[in-house]
Amino acid sequence: MSIVFKITNLALMLGAFVIITLSSAAYAEGSNATMPEGWEEWPIISSGAIPSNDKPISEDLPSIVQETFKMYNWVNEGHGTAYNVRVNPAQDAGYKNGGEYEDISTAVLELTDIGVILVTEHLMDEPVYGAYTIDGKDMGAAHPSLAPEACLNCHSGYAEICVKGVCTSKK
Ligand code: HEC
Repeated sequence: MSIVFKITNLALMLGAFVIITLSSAAYAEGSNATMPEGWEEWPIISSGAIPSNDKPISEDLPSIVQETFKMYNWVNEGHGTAYNVRVNPAQDAGYKNGGEYEDISTAVLELTDIGVILVTEHLMDEPVYGAYTIDGKDMGAAHPSLAPEACLNCHSGYAEICVKGVCTSKK
């Protein structure tokens, strides 16, 4: 076997490897929003709790809230979690004044009991979404309800409540 043949073979194998790696990356996409910096310092705009999955969800709640509780009450082994909404003060022009959002991280939903943040970022005034552990591990492919499409479906499906992809009302 000539050395040229071996090198060609190796190149083909490497090529195949690159293609396989790329296609599996496309399958398990992960977050679209980047991990924000300094989010722990952003002011808390509102707080709440996702109840545990053994509690009935009141039908008096707004349907977006009922849907959110149903979708996320699996977290923390079904025990639910407290959460904080934090908005990046550098996004106040968009958030408080209804202006344009900058192309930076916008807000997080901090799930305090499990150390995960759901992240909204704006790009060209449009929201993109992601999920990370508080130490920066991408969770966007870890569960279907953490995938960016799931976030987009709800946040854009309730467009009257979630203005430009941000659901928490301004106070
Ligand atoms: C079924 C509906 C639903 C889904 C799915 C959902 N959210 Fe939300 N999200 C809400 C609601 C409702 C609030 C407001 C909570 C509050 O104000 O207490 C919210 C709040 C937020 C906030 C705080 C800023 C804001 O928009 O009010 C962020 C950030 C956020 N969500 C990101 C995400 C990300 C990222 C995902 C996907 C991993 C996601 N959300 C999935 C309903 C949803």
